Amino acid sequence: MGPTAELAVIGGSGLYALLDGATEHVVETPYGPPSDAVTVAEVGGRRVAFLPRHGRDHRHPPHLIPYRANLWALRSLGVRQVLAPCAVGGLRPELGPGTFVVPDQLIDRTSGRTQTYYDRGAVHVSFADPYCPAGRRTLLAAAAGRDVPAVDGGTVVVVEGPRFSTRAESRWYASIGGTVVNMTGHPEAVLARELALCYSSIALVTDLDAGVEGGGAVTQEEVFRVFGENTDRLRGLLLAAVAALPTERDCDCGRALDGIALPFALP
Ligand code: ADE
Repeated sequence: MGPTAELAVIGGSGLYALLDGATEHVVETPYGPPSDAVTVAEVGGRRVAFLPRHGRDHRHPPHLIPYRANLWALRSLGVRQVLAPCAVGGLRPELGPGTFVVPDQLIDRTSGRTQTYYDRGAVHVSFADPYCPAGRRTLLAAAAGRDVPAVDGGTVVVVEGPRFSTRAESRWYASIGGTVVNMTGHPEAVLARELALCYSSIALVTDLDAGVEGGGAVTQEEVFRVFGENTDRLRGLLLAAVAALPTERDCDCGRALDGIALPFALP
């Protein structure tokens, strides 16, 4: 029997369902249950899994999402390429609400989150380029093809949350090179790399962060409202992207663990 799914989308705040006519899979992992049941359907001839990062009723706050279980569950279904939409705050005045960014870098400002599968042995993955180049190209092409402007590249500063940042923190994130800020980009990206998955992200700016000229105090209401206003555009873009992802992986993501002695077998 072939894999249940080859590709996956991990939906962020406001994107709790993606696929029509999907089957539901309750997956168990050594790291406990994932955020929710995984739904699987065929899109453009590809078997695609969807997992709502926060659960479909948004029960998992960013700092308590079962990140390890989520990526493990997807890999155990056969998934090797992951697209990860998310909501972000803009750290540059020109990146207003409704802008899409396909990031190429991240800065981890979280604390206390488990960010590895490997608590035994010597497993040190390269993470200089945290996002899959093929996934990024595909997302950008899908956006261009649908007349959705998307910024090519940017650095996501991932904060612990669940509170939003102070103005001073926000100004500092911009000064150290941040383009956008969110609460879920890490450790999701590194855990994907530790499972040799392709992982790329598309960030929807829902607000200007507090330290940015023109930015007010960020509110949850604003973030959810702007995300809701853009879910149709995002859904269309994601469905176009999953259908266009290369069937043969020609990037280095699948070789992330080559030459490393793993303490256990991957699913
Ligand atoms: N997610 C959406 N907007 C955000 C912001 N301003 N800070 C952190 N996470 C966010």
